[in-house]
Amino acid sequence: MVRRRFLLGWVAAICIAWCGTDEGRIWKAYLEWYRRQPIAVSDLRQSYLDHLKRSGLGEAEARERSVIVERLSRERRDELHPLFFDRTYSSAAPRFHTGPNALLVESVRELKPGRALDIHMGQGRNAVFLASQGWDVTGFDFSAEGVRAAREAAARAGVTVTALVRRHEDFEFGRAQWNLVVMCYTWVPLRNPYIERILESLKPGGLVVFEHLMDQSGSERAAPWLPRPNELLRVFSPLRILRYEDLRAEADWSWRPERIARLVAEK
Ligand SMILES: C[S@@+](CC[C@H](N)C(=O)[O-])C[C@H]1O[C@@H](n2cnc3c(N)ncnc32)[C@H](O)[C@@H]1O
Repeated sequence: MVRRRFLLGWVAAICIAWCGTDEGRIWKAYLEWYRRQPIAVSDLRQSYLDHLKRSGLGEAEARERSVIVERLSRERRDELHPLFFDRTYSSAAPRFHTGPNALLVESVRELKPGRALDIHMGQGRNAVFLASQGWDVTGFDFSAEGVRAAREAAARAGVTVTALVRRHEDFEFGRAQWNLVVMCYTWVPLRNPYIERILESLKPGGLVVFEHLMDQSGSERAAPWLPRPNELLRVFSPLRILRYEDLRAEADWSWRPERIARLVAEK
Protein backbone atom coordinates (compact mmCIF):
# COMPACT_ATOMS: atom_id res chain seq x y z
CA MET A 1 0.00 0.00 0.00
CA VAL A 2 2.79 2.38 1.05
CA ARG A 3 4.73 1.38 -2.05
CA ARG A 4 1.67 2.11 -4.27
CA ARG A 5 1.21 5.58 -2.73
CA PHE A 6 4.90 6.26 -3.18
CA LEU A 7 4.70 5.27 -6.84
CA LEU A 8 1.56 7.36 -7.43
CA GLY A 9 3.30 10.31 -5.80
CA TRP A 10 6.21 9.94 -8.18
CA VAL A 11 3.96 9.68 -11.23
CA ALA A 12 2.10 12.87 -10.12
CA ALA A 13 5.38 14.72 -9.54
CA ILE A 14 6.71 13.71 -12.97
CA CYS A 15 3.41 14.82 -14.60
CA ILE A 16 3.52 18.19 -12.86
CA ALA A 17 7.15 18.71 -13.83
CA TRP A 18 6.43 17.73 -17.43
CA CYS A 19 3.37 19.99 -17.71
CA GLY A 20 5.29 22.83 -16.07
CA THR A 21 8.13 22.51 -18.56
CA ASP A 22 5.70 22.24 -21.44
CA GLU A 23 3.81 25.35 -20.33
CA GLY A 24 7.12 27.09 -19.80
CA ARG A 25 8.11 26.26 -23.37
CA ILE A 26 4.72 27.38 -24.76
CA TRP A 27 4.90 30.65 -22.80
CA LYS A 28 8.47 31.38 -23.87
CA ALA A 29 7.55 30.84 -27.53
CA TYR A 30 4.53 33.11 -27.10
CA LEU A 31 6.60 35.92 -25.54
CA GLU A 32 9.08 35.68 -28.42
CA TRP A 33 6.23 36.04 -30.89
CA TYR A 34 4.39 38.71 -28.86
CA ARG A 35 7.32 41.13 -28.54
CA ARG A 36 7.74 41.17 -32.32
CA GLN A 37 4.13 42.14 -33.06
CA PRO A 38 3.60 45.70 -34.31
CA ILE A 39 1.53 47.68 -31.81
CA ALA A 40 -1.14 48.15 -34.51
CA VAL A 41 -2.03 44.42 -34.32
CA SER A 42 -5.11 44.56 -32.11
CA ASP A 43 -6.58 41.03 -32.44
CA LEU A 44 -3.61 39.21 -30.97
CA ARG A 45 -5.57 36.03 -30.30
CA GLN A 46 -6.50 35.58 -33.97
CA SER A 47 -3.01 36.59 -35.15
CA TYR A 48 -1.45 34.04 -32.82
CA LEU A 49 -3.80 31.31 -34.02
CA ASP A 50 -2.90 32.15 -37.62
CA HIS A 51 0.77 32.11 -36.68
CA LEU A 52 0.47 28.68 -35.02
CA LYS A 53 -1.31 27.24 -38.03
CA ARG A 54 1.27 28.71 -40.40
CA SER A 55 3.93 27.05 -38.22
CA GLY A 56 2.33 23.65 -38.92
CA LEU A 57 -0.08 23.02 -36.03
CA GLY A 58 -3.51 21.58 -36.83
CA GLU A 59 -6.67 23.55 -36.03
CA ALA A 60 -7.44 21.67 -32.78
CA GLU A 61 -3.89 21.79 -31.47
CA ALA A 62 -3.55 25.50 -32.30
CA ARG A 63 -6.80 26.26 -30.43
CA GLU A 64 -5.69 24.22 -27.45
CA ARG A 65 -2.39 26.10 -27.33
CA SER A 66 -4.13 29.44 -27.70
CA VAL A 67 -6.35 28.62 -24.68
CA ILE A 68 -3.23 27.85 -22.61
CA VAL A 69 -1.62 31.12 -23.73
CA GLU A 70 -4.73 33.11 -22.83
CA ARG A 71 -4.74 31.64 -19.33
CA LEU A 72 -1.02 32.24 -18.89
CA SER A 73 -1.43 35.81 -20.14
CA ARG A 74 -3.97 36.42 -17.37
CA GLU A 75 -1.75 34.78 -14.75
CA ARG A 76 1.49 36.40 -15.89
CA ARG A 77 0.38 39.95 -16.76
CA ASP A 78 3.50 41.29 -15.06
CA GLU A 79 5.67 39.64 -17.70
CA LEU A 80 3.60 40.95 -20.60
CA HIS A 81 3.39 44.61 -19.53
CA PRO A 82 7.01 45.59 -20.32
CA LEU A 83 6.73 43.79 -23.66
CA PHE A 84 3.56 45.69 -24.50
CA PHE A 85 5.53 48.91 -24.07
CA ASP A 86 8.48 47.43 -26.01
CA ARG A 87 6.02 46.99 -28.89
CA THR A 88 4.90 50.60 -28.44
CA TYR A 89 8.41 52.03 -28.48
CA SER A 90 9.65 49.95 -31.41
CA SER A 91 6.68 51.01 -33.54
CA ALA A 92 7.52 53.11 -36.58
CA ALA A 93 4.40 55.23 -36.01
CA PRO A 94 4.28 56.26 -32.33
CA ARG A 95 0.80 56.65 -30.88
CA PHE A 96 1.78 59.28 -28.36
CA HIS A 97 3.18 62.80 -28.31
CA THR A 98 6.94 62.44 -28.74
CA GLY A 99 7.84 66.00 -27.66
CA PRO A 100 8.21 67.02 -24.01
CA ASN A 101 5.11 67.37 -21.88
CA ALA A 102 3.75 70.96 -21.98
CA LEU A 103 3.04 71.15 -18.24
CA LEU A 104 6.62 70.10 -17.50
CA VAL A 105 8.09 72.63 -19.94
CA GLU A 106 6.03 75.37 -18.31
CA SER A 107 6.75 74.25 -14.74
CA VAL A 108 10.54 74.25 -15.04
CA ARG A 109 10.85 77.44 -17.10
CA GLU A 110 11.81 79.57 -14.10
CA LEU A 111 13.57 76.86 -12.08
CA LYS A 112 17.26 76.55 -11.41
CA PRO A 113 18.24 73.10 -12.77
CA GLY A 114 19.10 70.45 -10.20
CA ARG A 115 18.65 66.68 -9.89
CA ALA A 116 15.58 65.32 -11.68
CA LEU A 117 13.98 61.89 -11.62
CA ASP A 118 11.76 60.83 -14.53
CA ILE A 119 9.60 57.97 -13.26
CA HIS A 120 8.69 55.50 -16.04
CA MET A 121 10.57 57.60 -18.56
CA GLY A 122 9.37 55.73 -21.67
CA GLN A 123 11.43 56.74 -24.71
CA GLY A 124 12.88 59.69 -22.80
CA ARG A 125 10.98 62.64 -24.29
CA ASN A 126 10.92 64.47 -20.93
CA ALA A 127 14.32 63.29 -19.66
CA VAL A 128 16.10 64.50 -22.80
CA PHE A 129 14.28 67.84 -22.66
CA LEU A 130 15.31 68.37 -19.01
CA ALA A 131 18.91 67.38 -19.69
CA SER A 132 19.00 69.89 -22.55
CA GLN A 133 17.95 72.55 -20.00
CA GLY A 134 20.88 71.69 -17.74
CA TRP A 135 19.19 69.22 -15.36
CA ASP A 136 21.08 66.20 -14.04
CA VAL A 137 18.53 63.56 -15.04
CA THR A 138 17.94 59.98 -13.99
CA GLY A 139 15.05 58.03 -15.48
CA PHE A 140 13.90 54.45 -15.34
CA ASP A 141 11.37 52.22 -17.04
CA PHE A 142 10.73 48.47 -17.27
CA SER A 143 10.58 48.62 -21.06
CA ALA A 144 14.05 47.80 -22.39
CA GLU A 145 13.05 49.24 -25.79
CA GLY A 146 11.95 52.50 -24.15
CA VAL A 147 15.22 52.87 -22.27
CA ARG A 148 17.20 52.00 -25.38
CA ALA A 149 15.31 54.72 -27.31
CA ALA A 150 15.91 57.20 -24.46
CA ARG A 151 19.66 56.55 -24.47
CA GLU A 152 19.76 56.96 -28.24
CA ALA A 153 17.73 60.18 -28.10
CA ALA A 154 20.08 61.58 -25.43
CA ALA A 155 23.11 60.70 -27.56
CA ARG A 156 21.53 62.36 -30.62
CA ALA A 157 20.80 65.48 -28.58
CA GLY A 158 24.35 65.50 -27.18
CA VAL A 159 23.17 65.33 -23.55
CA THR A 160 23.73 62.90 -20.70
CA VAL A 161 20.82 61.05 -19.12
CA THR A 162 21.11 58.14 -16.69
CA ALA A 163 18.52 55.77 -18.17
CA LEU A 164 17.90 52.51 -16.32
CA VAL A 165 15.84 49.42 -17.11
CA ARG A 166 14.06 48.89 -13.79
CA ARG A 167 10.74 47.81 -12.42
CA HIS A 168 9.25 50.48 -10.22
CA GLU A 169 9.24 48.10 -7.28
CA ASP A 170 13.03 47.57 -7.61
CA PHE A 171 14.10 51.19 -8.07
CA GLU A 172 15.98 52.80 -5.17
CA PHE A 173 14.30 56.20 -4.85
CA GLY A 174 16.43 57.20 -1.88
CA ARG A 175 15.61 59.97 0.62
CA ALA A 176 15.73 63.72 -0.13
CA GLN A 177 17.45 63.05 -3.46
CA TRP A 178 15.57 64.95 -6.15
CA ASN A 179 14.75 68.60 -6.86
CA LEU A 180 12.19 67.49 -9.43
CA VAL A 181 10.17 64.31 -9.86
CA VAL A 182 8.36 63.87 -13.18
CA MET A 183 5.27 61.67 -13.23
CA CYS A 184 3.88 61.89 -16.74
CA TYR A 185 1.40 59.17 -17.71
CA THR A 186 3.28 56.85 -15.39
CA TRP A 187 0.80 54.12 -14.46
CA VAL A 188 2.07 54.37 -10.87
CA PRO A 189 -0.65 53.17 -8.46
CA LEU A 190 -1.80 56.22 -6.50
CA ARG A 191 -1.37 54.57 -3.11
CA ASN A 192 1.30 53.60 -0.64
CA PRO A 193 3.98 52.38 -0.59
CA TYR A 194 4.33 53.86 -4.10
CA ILE A 195 3.48 57.47 -3.22
CA GLU A 196 5.24 57.42 0.15
CA ARG A 197 8.52 56.37 -1.43
CA ILE A 198 8.26 59.11 -4.08
CA LEU A 199 7.48 61.84 -1.55
CA GLU A 200 10.33 60.72 0.71
CA SER A 201 12.72 60.88 -2.20
CA LEU A 202 12.01 64.59 -2.89
CA LYS A 203 14.32 67.21 -1.43
CA PRO A 204 12.67 69.92 0.66
CA GLY A 205 11.55 72.56 -1.86
CA GLY A 206 11.51 69.90 -4.62
CA LEU A 207 8.64 69.72 -7.15
CA VAL A 208 6.43 66.93 -8.42
CA VAL A 209 5.01 67.48 -11.89
CA PHE A 210 2.18 65.06 -12.58
CA GLU A 211 -0.09 64.56 -15.60
CA HIS A 212 -2.30 61.57 -16.37
CA LEU A 213 -5.48 60.38 -18.00
CA MET A 214 -8.28 60.20 -15.43
CA ASP A 215 -10.58 57.32 -14.62
CA GLN A 216 -13.78 57.57 -16.67
CA SER A 217 -15.51 54.48 -15.36
CA GLY A 218 -16.30 55.49 -11.80
CA SER A 219 -15.85 51.82 -10.95
CA GLU A 220 -14.21 50.66 -7.74
CA ARG A 221 -12.21 48.25 -9.84
CA ALA A 222 -10.73 50.97 -12.06
CA ALA A 223 -6.97 50.86 -12.57
CA PRO A 224 -5.24 52.26 -9.46
CA TRP A 225 -3.03 54.53 -11.57
CA LEU A 226 -5.96 56.47 -13.07
CA PRO A 227 -6.80 59.43 -10.82
CA ARG A 228 -10.44 59.77 -9.72
CA PRO A 229 -11.92 63.26 -9.31
CA ASN A 230 -9.93 65.14 -6.63
CA GLU A 231 -7.88 62.06 -5.79
CA LEU A 232 -4.57 63.81 -6.50
CA LEU A 233 -5.43 66.52 -3.97
CA ARG A 234 -5.62 63.83 -1.30
CA VAL A 235 -2.66 61.74 -2.50
CA PHE A 236 -0.32 64.74 -2.67
CA SER A 237 -1.73 66.52 0.38
CA PRO A 238 1.57 66.17 2.33
CA LEU A 239 2.96 68.61 -0.26
CA ARG A 240 2.03 72.20 -1.00
CA ILE A 241 -0.18 72.01 -4.08
CA LEU A 242 0.73 74.86 -6.41
CA ARG A 243 -1.48 73.87 -9.33
CA TYR A 244 -4.28 71.39 -9.90
CA GLU A 245 -6.40 70.97 -13.04
CA ASP A 246 -9.07 68.50 -14.04
CA LEU A 247 -9.98 69.16 -17.67
CA ARG A 248 -10.78 67.79 -21.09
CA ALA A 249 -7.75 68.33 -23.30
CA GLU A 250 -5.38 66.87 -25.84
CA ALA A 251 -3.57 64.16 -23.91
CA ASP A 252 0.03 63.16 -24.69
CA TRP A 253 -0.94 59.51 -24.58
CA SER A 254 -4.18 59.54 -26.54
CA TRP A 255 -5.19 60.43 -30.05
CA ARG A 256 -8.38 62.22 -29.01
CA PRO A 257 -9.22 64.78 -26.32
CA GLU A 258 -9.51 63.07 -22.92
CA ARG A 259 -10.22 63.93 -19.32
CA ILE A 260 -6.83 64.55 -17.76
CA ALA A 261 -5.53 65.61 -14.35
CA ARG A 262 -2.52 67.87 -13.87
CA LEU A 263 -0.76 68.72 -10.66
CA VAL A 264 2.34 70.62 -9.59
CA ALA A 265 3.26 70.34 -5.93
CA GLU A 266 6.19 71.38 -3.76
CA LYS A 267 7.71 69.66 -0.72
C1 LIG B 1 2.05 55.67 -20.84
S1 LIG B 1 3.78 55.36 -20.76
C2 LIG B 1 4.46 56.94 -20.36
C3 LIG B 1 5.94 57.06 -20.62
C4 LIG B 1 6.55 58.44 -20.34
N1 LIG B 1 6.44 58.79 -18.95
C5 LIG B 1 5.91 59.49 -21.20
O1 LIG B 1 5.14 60.31 -20.68
O2 LIG B 1 6.15 59.47 -22.42
C6 LIG B 1 3.89 54.46 -19.24
C7 LIG B 1 5.29 53.94 -18.99
O3 LIG B 1 5.32 53.32 -17.72
C8 LIG B 1 6.20 52.21 -17.80
N2 LIG B 1 5.83 51.35 -16.65
C9 LIG B 1 4.58 50.93 -16.31
N3 LIG B 1 4.63 50.20 -15.17
C10 LIG B 1 5.94 50.16 -14.79
C11 LIG B 1 6.63 49.58 -13.69
N4 LIG B 1 5.98 48.88 -12.75
N5 LIG B 1 7.97 49.74 -13.59
C12 LIG B 1 8.65 50.45 -14.55
N6 LIG B 1 8.05 51.04 -15.62
C13 LIG B 1 6.71 50.90 -15.74
C14 LIG B 1 5.93 51.62 -19.17
O4 LIG B 1 6.95 50.82 -19.66
C15 LIG B 1 5.74 52.89 -19.99
O5 LIG B 1 6.95 53.31 -20.58
